[in-house]
Amino acid sequence: MNMLVTGCAGFIGFHLALERLNRGERVVGVDNLNNYYDVNLKQARLEILKRHSQFEFVKLDLADKDALAILFKQHQFDRVVNLAAQAGVRYSLINPYAYINSNINGFINILEQCRHHGVKNLVYASSSSVYGANTKQPFSESEAVDHPLALYAATKKSNELMAHAYSHLYRMPSTGLRFFTVYGPWGRPDMALFLFTKSIIEGKPIDVFNHGKMIRDFTYIDDIISGVCKAIDTPATPNDRWDSNEPDSATSNAPYRIYNIGNNNPTQLMDYIRAIENALGKEAILNMQPIQAGDVPSTHADISLIEKDLDYRPSVSVEEGVQRFINWFMSYYY
Ligand SMILES: NC(=O)c1ccc[n+]([C@@H]2O[C@H](COP(=O)([O-])OP(=O)(O)OC[C@H]3O[C@@H](n4cnc5c(N)ncnc54)[C@H](O)[C@@H]3O)[C@@H](O)[C@H]2O)c1
Repeated sequence: MNMLVTGCAGFIGFHLALERLNRGERVVGVDNLNNYYDVNLKQARLEILKRHSQFEFVKLDLADKDALAILFKQHQFDRVVNLAAQAGVRYSLINPYAYINSNINGFINILEQCRHHGVKNLVYASSSSVYGANTKQPFSESEAVDHPLALYAATKKSNELMAHAYSHLYRMPSTGLRFFTVYGPWGRPDMALFLFTKSIIEGKPIDVFNHGKMIRDFTYIDDIISGVCKAIDTPATPNDRWDSNEPDSATSNAPYRIYNIGNNNPTQLMDYIRAIENALGKEAILNMQPIQAGDVPSTHADISLIEKDLDYRPSVSVEEGVQRFINWFMSYYY
């Protein structure tokens, strides 16, 4: 098996590449190592991957279609996992073009290469943010998602639409995974758990948005990776039914599917903060703030589809997952 993992120096890409390397597989990883957050953390993740002889790293920007074409020509990938993207909801209000460059231009380049090289399975990251202004919870794949609240979400929804066209036209199996707030060791410095932990340790106040009334379906990284691996090992088929509004196979016939991949256990932000305080043995100084533009107040994943199809079973509680993050954070930074 020859697998490409894009965004391999990122949080989820690193964990996925490591898991597949530990299984004895060969992994080619690409990343442009951009400075959206601390590049040293990306380099440190890469150093761990590079200890494996079956790992090859190529520094590359997905938007560079010529470089991507050379990469695909050199390696006959049978599986491609696209995790490289400009992530973050709030930053998409500041630098929208970064999202178009990586998430739209980069994604069409991935699709084109998969098409021309007959890739047997494409798995790519979508996001719970596609549910945008939807209020019916838990969020289900069968609901329409036409009201994104930020450009980031719009690019992820666009990815799902682009993948459908390619799966239909070229019989290319694709699976889009709507990740719900992923956290854990080696996590992202722009996300709440990292920011809160650092500030609490330093005795600085933490910004608590929506006055603490945020709800998130926090999903531990190991659970996410188990779901991604199942999607990699079981490509979509034309018989997959993921949306009750979907046309019958005579008109669609695409080996295409979308899964929520969450914890199905929505947690109040204040409970999440309490778990961090307990793990650190130190109280937070709270700086209550209104909800930020583009943010969704509450997320809750209906995971029945991925449970049924792929036997996905998240197993790590928020208390346990936060403790494991804090253990990593203390050993890495202190
Ligand atoms: N972490 C979450 O909670 C979460 C939730 C929903 C969706 N996602 C999605 O999951 C994927 C992985 O997220 P993550 O948390 O690991 O983010 P991350 O930022 O840690 O990882 C993304 C990696 O992709 C690289 N990258 C960005 N643009 C690139 C480009 N044009 N070419 C090559 N490399 C590029 C970055 O350098 C980074 O290392 C992303 O698509 C993200 O949108 C993440």
